Formats: sequence, C-alpha cells, structure tokens
Amino acid sequence: MALSTESYKGTRDFYPKDMQLRNWMFGTLARTVRSFGYLEYGGPMLESFDLYAAKTGEEIVNQQLYHMVDRGDRKIAVRPEMTPTMARMVAAKINELARPIRLFSIPNLWRYERPQRGRLREHWQLNVDVLGGDPLLAETELLTLAVEIMRAFQGGDKMQVKVNHRKLMDEFFSRRMGLTTEQAHKVVKAIDAKSKVDEAKFKGWLIEAGLAEEKISDLNRFFTSSLETIAAEMPCEGAAHLLNLFKMLEESGVRGQVVFDPTIMRGLDYYTGTVFEIYDVSPENHRAMFGGGRYDNLMGIFGKEALSGVGFGMGDVSLQNFLETHGLVPKFDSEIDVMVTLPKGEIRGLSEEIARGLRVSGLNVITPLAVGSFGSQLKIANKHEAKIAVLFGDDELTRGEVILKVLGTGEQINVKKEEVITRVISILNGKE
Ligand code: HAM
Repeated sequence: MALSTESYKGTRDFYPKDMQLRNWMFGTLARTVRSFGYLEYGGPMLESFDLYAAKTGEEIVNQQLYHMVDRGDRKIAVRPEMTPTMARMVAAKINELARPIRLFSIPNLWRYERPQRGRLREHWQLNVDVLGGDPLLAETELLTLAVEIMRAFQGGDKMQVKVNHRKLMDEFFSRRMGLTTEQAHKVVKAIDAKSKVDEAKFKGWLIEAGLAEEKISDLNRFFTSSLETIAAEMPCEGAAHLLNLFKMLEESGVRGQVVFDPTIMRGLDYYTGTVFEIYDVSPENHRAMFGGGRYDNLMGIFGKEALSGVGFGMGDVSLQNFLETHGLVPKFDSEIDVMVTLPKGEIRGLSEEIARGLRVSGLNVITPLAVGSFGSQLKIANKHEAKIAVLFGDDELTRGEVILKVLGTGEQINVKKEEVITRVISILNGKE
C-alpha cells in the first residue's frame, strides 16, 4: 500500500509560500525583541523527563508530554515548552551572564493536544524572559514589549493584555474564603474553564468543590470587582503590586491595552507573582496568544540562588490566526528576481556569466536547467514567478545585446550585455 502524504496529526508542512509567511512573522518578532536588547539563545529538542516533572504543570506532564526511554535507558522528553531549558541554561552560567539577563528564542515545541483552532501538536513559540532587575520595572518592560510586538504587526489596538497576580489569588482563596489547597485547586480549574461554559455549569463545579452558597456569592462578587475595590477591601502584596504595575504601564504608554482580570490563572506551576495572557479582541480567536508571568523559584530546582525572572511565550498558530482575521498579512513578493534563459547550448557560457553577475549583485537568479525554445522558457519563468527574464534573440546577440522581459507587464527592453546588471536592478527598484 502506498504511504500517506499527510503530515502527522497536529503538525504542519511548510511549503515555500508558508515559509515566506513564517519567516516574515519570526523576522518581525525577532526585530522587535532585539530592539529592546534581548539576545537570542537556542537549546536542544530533547531534555531529561525530570526537567519537566519538576515544575511544568500537571496537565502538560501527565497528558501532553512526548517522552521515551533512549537506548541508554535514560528517560527523556521532547520539549513542550522552553522555560525549563532556559532556566537550566541560565542556572549553569548564573555568575557569567550580564544582569539583568534578557533572552529570547523561537523554538518549536511539542504537546500531545487534541488539534483544534489555535492549538496543534507542534508549534513555534517566541519566548522572551528577563531575569533580575526590579520586578515592577522588568514586568513593565516585558508587557510594553508584548504590546510593541503587536504594534509592529499593526495590531496594537486589536489585542488586550489581561493581568492577575498569584499572591492576590492565594490571599483571596485561603485567607478570605478559607479554602483548603485542594478546594482552591478545584476552584482555579473551574475559573480557568469559566469562559467556555454557562453559569449553571460553573456553579455546579463550585458546589462540587464544597463551596456553600454565601461563598459562591462572595466569589462572584470578587470576580466582578475592580482592582481598586479589591485593594481597598483586601489590602495585600499582590493587589499593591498590580496597582503599581498599572501606574508604570501608564507611563510607558500601554495602559490602554492592559486590564486586570482575576480569571487569569495560568496552568504552569512555576509562576509565583504577576501572571498575564494576551488576547485577540475578535471573538473567533478566543484562545490566548501569549501567556506568561513571574517565577521566583525556578533556579532553585538546580540548587542555585533564587534569581527571579519574568517571561512569556507567544505561539505562531494564534499569531497567524490573529493576522489573518484582521487582514494584516501582506502580499509577499516573489523570491525569484530573475530567470536567465538558455535557448541553445552554445550560449551557456554567456548565460552563466550573466547569472553569476546578477547573483553577486545580491539578486536571486534561476536558470531553466534545460535548453528550450523562447516560448517554453518564458512559461518556466512565469511558473516560477520570476520578475524578469533575460532572453537571447539571434539578432540581439549579433548586436551585443540581450532582451529583458518584465513578466508583470510584458514589457521588453533591449539592453547592451554590459548593462544587464544595472538595468535589471533599476527595473526591480521601480526606477524604469
Ligand atoms: P503557555 O501558556 O503554555 O506558556 O504557552 C504560551 C503560548 O504558546 C500560548 O498562549 C499559545 O499562543 C501558544 N501555545 C501553547 N500551546 C500551544 C499549542 N499546542 N498549539 C499552538 N500554540 C500553543 C508557556 O509555554 C510558558 N513556558 C511561557 C513562558 C515563558 N513563561 C515564562 N516564560
């Protein structure tokens, strides 16, 4: 039986046109992040299973991790996220890296998920992290950077950052509501899924978690209160931190894009402070585009000093959905600038010389790899979306000329052999 040409479930093939879009997206991401002085790093696809078992959330480790035992009996896993690798790398050189440590990477990650809009089994994720520095200043920079990324795609007014604080939620669940850790865990799960179910179902979960009627109304009141009200009624470190953060975001010119949202919980275990997610304002893309937060104890798992960090991950799948939904994907130019034809074997030397000269000038040049008639070679040039074809007519050759055919307009220009490069460049630059 013939093999299927379909890619493995939840993965994508990237044909050249798809790569063009991807390279443009990643290029824009990297440029924006670099403009804030973040430096790129990379790491391996495979890590020890224990690296994820330590701090990555239960859902990922128990249900989504691709893991195996290698030939040397080591339990290893395919990275489902980049943060543990980044933390391991920072911990290994903790005294050598210049602080604050600003890092970014765009790795491919694997999670065994049910493929659906915005969620696949293999995705690429921009990871941006800053370790050290004053927490408020670092968080302000990171959230400003996140907004600047969306502005670089012309989508700054079509997204919203939702911010919460783990310590504020701990204060509320344990001190104010008196919930046990297990109850709080169930309530967190219910809140995490709240936007996907109706009121009755949500209430059912809370009753199941053992919450009495008055606690449920207390909870509902909390979730509809403003940050200022919560801070006044329940003064605590988390609320004070968020109030300060909002003040700084105002100064950085991005306050309008950021809201307080106590339903933002984040599934990963290592977050200890501010947590946030970034959403498309368009309802078709209801999944988070970015997720991140502050982690105080991640370095601790490597026995190193508790260097606190904050970072986020942003997926390529939801970014592409966002850009397509809002019509923000540009029309890409063909990558092939010129095709130099080969009408007969005897002129191969000249054809190659012209091709070489154009390549040295920085252009992308193809040849047909076969001798062929004028018409058949023009067809090849069109099919490859070359912008200009260099043609050799017998009459022109005797006069020391070649023909440049501009494929978009059909215009033909006779030029001297020695002028091919300058004329091709001036046509491509729209100067003639
Ligand atoms: P995360 O929330 O698991 O965080 O993922 C961050 C983003 O990656 C999501 O908002 C989404 O855009 C994208 N993403 C996640 N899973 C998938 C998937 N299966 N298919 C498509 N896109 C997906 C983290 O991974 C943290 N390590 C981020 C971080 C960095 N925190 C601190 N530093």
